[in-house]
Amino acid sequence: MPLEACRVSPLDRGFVFGDAVYELIPAYARRAFCLQQHLARLERSLGQVHIQNPYTRTQWETMIGNLIQRSESADVAVYIQVTRGVATRDHPFPENAVPTVFAMANPLASIADETLQNGVALITIKDIRWQRCDIKVTGLLANILAKQDALQSSASEAILVRDGFALEGSSSNLFVVREGVVHTHPKDNQILPGITRDFVLELLTDLGREYREQAIPEDWLYSADEIWVTSSAREVLPATKIDQHVVGDGVPGKLWRDVYALYQERKA
Ligand SMILES: Cc1ncc(COP(=O)(O)O)c(C=O)c1O
Repeated sequence: MPLEACRVSPLDRGFVFGDAVYELIPAYARRAFCLQQHLARLERSLGQVHIQNPYTRTQWETMIGNLIQRSESADVAVYIQVTRGVATRDHPFPENAVPTVFAMANPLASIADETLQNGVALITIKDIRWQRCDIKVTGLLANILAKQDALQSSASEAILVRDGFALEGSSSNLFVVREGVVHTHPKDNQILPGITRDFVLELLTDLGREYREQAIPEDWLYSADEIWVTSSAREVLPATKIDQHVVGDGVPGKLWRDVYALYQERKA
């Protein structure tokens, strides 16, 4: 339906409490990418916050497929949000609320050549988020504040640091290459289990490269050979600067180039 015709009640718990989960699925040439992995994560998010899943897997697939087919662009990002529904404002779960589903497809911007050639700049920032970062909830205020700090420092992403370890970006997962080995934080409660993260680990296996899922000490960021950030919308981006430090040789690294090339091949 046209955006102007969409209506959500101001009493929707997604609006009042941020009582909602979401998912973002890229589609290329009108085909969803890693769809089953995204739907599995959406189902898990709903289960973790005890919102009843309003659709079967097939119904989700149909609805997302329709959005992709009907959108103006062939490459889109499908955003899906499910809230606990409309009820008088009160903290306990309402008895008979029906989950609200909102989905939209927006054009997926391609990544500028300049970004791929020069890499991006990062900052580090204290992680002030809650202890269930593994659930994809819409309450993203801490992430938004971190991203805004990055932009104000002329960087494009903020790396969240907690108890001396670099966990992930405000909207991306983090990879650090050190002595030829790729490191990324394990899938625990402190990070979002990124679909792109898992996809990149698969690519590394296919490339025969060693990786370790382990906590990354903050000071490794300043002595890394390569740093990458991954997300569904921005794929795998090389970082060439972090805080005031140059990463590696100051240009996107060799391993990143191999991973990026294979990523593009699989995508195609
Ligand atoms: C906090 C956070 N970490 C990681 C990611 C990357 O996840 P994915 O690769 O599934 O897009 C996102 C994506 O929005 C995110 O918000």
